[in-house]
This record gives sequence, C-alpha cells and structure tokens, in this order.
Amino acid sequence: MQKKIPPAVIALLLQFVAFALVFSCVKLFGFRIALPVFALLCGLVAAVLSRFVNLASWWLFIQLLFVPALVAMQGLDIPPRIFLVAFLLMLAIYWSAYRTQVPLYLSSDKVWHALEGLLPETGFRFIDLGSGLGGVLKHLASVRSDGFFQGIEYAPLPFLIGRLRCMSLQNCKVNWGSLWDCNLAEYDVVFAYLSPVPMERLMFKARAEMRPGTLFISSTFAVPEQAPDSRIEVDDIHGSTLLVWRM
Ligand SMILES: C[S@@+](CC[C@H](N)C(=O)[O-])C[C@H]1O[C@@H](n2cnc3c(N)ncnc32)[C@H](O)[C@@H]1O
Repeated sequence: MQKKIPPAVIALLLQFVAFALVFSCVKLFGFRIALPVFALLCGLVAAVLSRFVNLASWWLFIQLLFVPALVAMQGLDIPPRIFLVAFLLMLAIYWSAYRTQVPLYLSSDKVWHALEGLLPETGFRFIDLGSGLGGVLKHLASVRSDGFFQGIEYAPLPFLIGRLRCMSLQNCKVNWGSLWDCNLAEYDVVFAYLSPVPMERLMFKARAEMRPGTLFISSTFAVPEQAPDSRIEVDDIHGSTLLVWRM
C-alpha cells in the first residue's frame, strides 16, 4: 500500500503557495490593500487550490479562515505563552493525528455494554488498538475478571490517563506505542475504534496475524470490500455499529 502525503501537510503547503501568489500579485501590480483583505485573499486562494487537489470539503472551510484567524488573533494581544501551552496540550492529546488521521474520540458506554456480549465465555485476551482514555478496557476488565485486557495508545496524555485508570485492576494494562507494532496473534478479541483511513491496512494485518476462530471488531468504520460476518447496531449518540469478523 503506497504512502500518501497527509492532508494536513498538503493544506499547510497550499497556505504557503496561496500566500506567495497573493503577495506576488500585490507587489507586481502595486496594489495597496489592508491586512484583513490580504488575509482574506490568501484564504480564498488556499481554499480554491484545496478544491483543485480534492481535499475533503471541511478543509476548504479551514483553509479559507486560517490566515484571517491568524490576523484576528494577532489583534487580540494574547500572551504568547497561552499559545505555547495550548499547542503543547493539543500535541499531548492528539500527537501524530495529523499523520495517522485517527484523532481521539470516545466509545459510548452503550458500546462497552455491547462488547460485553461478544467476549468469549472464559479465559481470553482482549486488545483495544488505540485505547484512548482506557474507558473500554476499564469497564470490560471490571465486569470480566476472567479475561486479560490490553490497551495500546500512541498519544502521551491519553496513554497516561488510560494507564492510571487501569492501574487498580490486575487484569488490565495499557502500553505506550503504535498499534502497528502489536502482534495480534496473542489475542482472542481485537477491538478498534479508529477512522476510515487505516481500516484496509489494519484488516490486512489482522488476517495475516490473528488465529482462526478469533474475533476482529471495528466500531463504526468499515473495511473496503470486506463485509463483516455480523453487525450490531448500538443505539447511542454516535449511531455506532459494531462490525464483527471471525477469522
Ligand atoms: C477514536 S479513539 C478511540 C479510543 C478508545 N478505543 C475508545 O473506543 O474510546 C482512537 C485512538 O487511537 C489512537 N491511535 C491512533 N493511531 C494510533 C496508532 N498507530 N497506535 C496507537 N494508537 C493510535 C489515538 O491517539 C486515539 O486515542
């Protein structure tokens, strides 16, 4: 599977291109325009370019407002350390989501309960790939003391919170690392709530590593051209569906 440039990187590059184009035109033709107008023109050009390279529609909105928002924030005279703290906080929560395209959002407690019904009868190992704040693991480990529940999480702050939440339970552990480095052969149930982006590659990994008879469960996100063996509709706020494959 070929590696693609992440949309966030493309969006940023287009901002530079838009700035260079607008700046060159202004200089070339000797226009005298106010800074907010210049910012809006940069946004407009960036949005149009983003449309041309087929970025998803929400990017057009972000591209349009990015430079105008920078200029507006400049006027608010906010101390730079506030931006530094906000940036570090976002980094700790989202880490490389700009690249993986899998941000943090949480399964509902209705999903946790639906998962209970899919667990084997006794003595099993479960992994949550991208375990977020550890909610799925903590709940399942509390109600099924006969199973072992493992989490793997990339982003530092969610990892730390998940690790602390599971510390009081003997049968639950969260590690810091990438799901791509996990050996799925060690698990009877593999659970993932990620995004549409990694699903094809993840199913490829699951099929290569998981043992026959074990379960792969994706919350909400389908795998292209691979229909699940069963689906469980969960009546929650996200309209989640559990897609279940028996290997
Ligand atoms: C949508 S959240 C799901 C959280 C949790 N599993 C739940 O159901 O509530 C996805 C999580 O996967 C993490 N993640 C994304 N890519 C990852 C990777 N390659 N390795 C480990 N974790 C990853 C993100 O940081 C995020 O916390």
